[in-house]
Amino acid sequence: MSNVAVIGSQWGDEGKGKIVDWLSSRADVVVRFQGGHNAGHTLVIDGNEYKLNLLPSGVVRQGKISMIGNGVVISPWALLKEIATIKEKGVKITPENFVIAENANLILPVHQALDAALEMTRGEGKLGTTKRGIGPAYEDKVARRGIRVCDLRHPEILKEKISKMMFHHNILLAGMGADTMDANETYDKLMEIAGDILHYAGVVWRDLDRARTEGKKILFEGAQGTMLDVDHGTYPYVTSSNTVAAQAAIGSGMGVDAVKYVLGITKAYTTRVGTGPFPTEQDNEIGQFLGEKGKEFGTVTGRKRRCGWFDAVMVRQAVRVNGIHGISLTKLDVLDGLEEIKICVGYRLNGEEIDYYPASQVDQAAVEPIYETMDGWSESTYGARSWAELPAAAVKYVRHIEELIGAPVSMLSTSPERDDTILMRDPFVD
Ligand code: IMP
Repeated sequence: MSNVAVIGSQWGDEGKGKIVDWLSSRADVVVRFQGGHNAGHTLVIDGNEYKLNLLPSGVVRQGKISMIGNGVVISPWALLKEIATIKEKGVKITPENFVIAENANLILPVHQALDAALEMTRGEGKLGTTKRGIGPAYEDKVARRGIRVCDLRHPEILKEKISKMMFHHNILLAGMGADTMDANETYDKLMEIAGDILHYAGVVWRDLDRARTEGKKILFEGAQGTMLDVDHGTYPYVTSSNTVAAQAAIGSGMGVDAVKYVLGITKAYTTRVGTGPFPTEQDNEIGQFLGEKGKEFGTVTGRKRRCGWFDAVMVRQAVRVNGIHGISLTKLDVLDGLEEIKICVGYRLNGEEIDYYPASQVDQAAVEPIYETMDGWSESTYGARSWAELPAAAVKYVRHIEELIGAPVSMLSTSPERDDTILMRDPFVD
């Protein structure tokens, strides 16, 4: 038995969708453990396209059980809409194959209103959130003000909790000059869909414990990336959840030893969507080249992603803080045709060399990357299915990345197609 956690080792958008899909075809249970509908990816299975934000990837595959763990923040309306869209495509979603943790927190309309209003007040310092209400919903969870799935079973308590929550938030909204919200309206809206959500509600930690006892293979599907982690990322330019592998246990209700293999999805260069520091950013023709060739536009918001060279210092840090066993290197083909390729191997800060990414936002913005330059390759690596098909310079680049980050490449993805993958190690096999 070898449960796998898939996490992003940069700022998200590393190409997790394809890998998670491949792994979910091998798993019995797929569970989301953090984030919400700020995540997004498209799966293409037998020519059918499925867009997923909140639903675990296993949901489109027959015979798999999908779960949304307690660490996820759920917009019930977004979830129901996603379920309806997927069902229209002929996919069966029932309480037998899909479970929502009854102790997961909900994203309500007020959280979305707050997300938008707070971004407005930040002005130049805005975080560039997805405006899905993720941050404010997590704030309410930690402030012990949140509404959870299980509260939908108890209308009186629910009404009281919403009223208290709204009292708090309306002061804030009014202070920011935004429209206040009506507690009764939210309550009525929630009651309309309470039954539809409760239909899928269950005890995820117990179901997972059972699955584990039965020797089922569990895939923990992470969203976003390590540098967006609320503790380990580029704070405050982060999302509001822990995106690192340890969250797989907390956000699903399993013991810390549940995850046997941590797979870090890693892009062969770097991208970031939203604001915040980005030492290897190339705001020039290189960035343009990577963005165009890599089709670097956000799946959720459609925003153009910022692009830059591979940052080995940052990924090495991600390897350590996640306990990554191996990486899946994606989008190597985007680098095809570059005469030379740079890799960041250290930083210079206040005249000194450092080998880690510092925590302070002042230092994070001030570090200057130290680059190593490698030869590029003119041949295409697109669709390669073996090492022999790769040009020598590309192999050298991949091997050097392994050396610099201190983790092996267990999968090399060379196109969005499922089979265009060079597999060194199946993470599910011990
Ligand atoms: P939030 O998660 O909507 O609060 O956004 C906070 C930051 O995380 C912003 O910079 C977003 O662009 C970024 N972000 C959130 N979700 C994703 C994702 O799935 N991929 C990449 N960036 C994301």
